[in-house]
Amino acid sequence: MQKPAITQVPINETIASRWSGRAYDAAKPVTQAQIIALLEAARWAPSCYGDQPWRFIVWDKNTDEYAWLRAFDCLAPGNQSWVKDAPILMLTCADTLFNHNGQPNRWGQYDTGAATENLCLQACSMGLMAHQMGGFDANKTREAFAIPAQFTPMAMVCVGYPADIATVTGEALTREMAERKRKVLGELFFTETWGKSIQT
Ligand SMILES: Cc1cc2nc3c(=O)[nH]c(=O)nc-3n(C[C@H](O)[C@H](O)[C@H](O)COP(=O)(O)O)c2cc1C
Repeated sequence: MQKPAITQVPINETIASRWSGRAYDAAKPVTQAQIIALLEAARWAPSCYGDQPWRFIVWDKNTDEYAWLRAFDCLAPGNQSWVKDAPILMLTCADTLFNHNGQPNRWGQYDTGAATENLCLQACSMGLMAHQMGGFDANKTREAFAIPAQFTPMAMVCVGYPADIATVTGEALTREMAERKRKVLGELFFTETWGKSIQT
């Protein structure tokens, strides 16, 4: 299924076609070369001071199912119901400190989000689908995968080839079928001062 963004003006095709679907093809693995391409896209994200505060852990169900299951076990049940078919799971983490001076980095999470969105767009451009999730137990991931206190677990991301919607059931199916919505431009974007909507 495709759910392209209905945009007010034409935008970049990959941005318009990326979406967070829940139907994954369990029979179609993602190759190591594809995984590296996804990570390369993340690596080239911009960051404050060029500090690259993101760290990702990748689990591939087809090469190490045990590790993938340990990551899967950290997801909220509502996410597990549909992530089950996604061959790749990732956890994104953000550094709380700047690499160059050890001071608090208040842009670490911001930059990690940028790197993750790069990865999601790269996935879409390769015919894959990526879906970010905040619904996971961060403490459980910290313990299970020895994540240092300096880093904050931010989001789990699953990646795989999209599949027929018939693989999704229950609440996940309802969400899968729901219309994609966004606030109007003027509610989010201002001109001159806070609250003065940009004219569209
Ligand atoms: C940080 C973050 C956390 C999210 N957490 C979840 C989640 O736990 N479960 C889920 O199904 N979707 C999750 N999503 C996906 C959002 O629901 C989705 O991006 C949003 O509804 C917009 O839809 P779109 O990505 O298809 O444009 C998350 C997205 C982000 C960026």
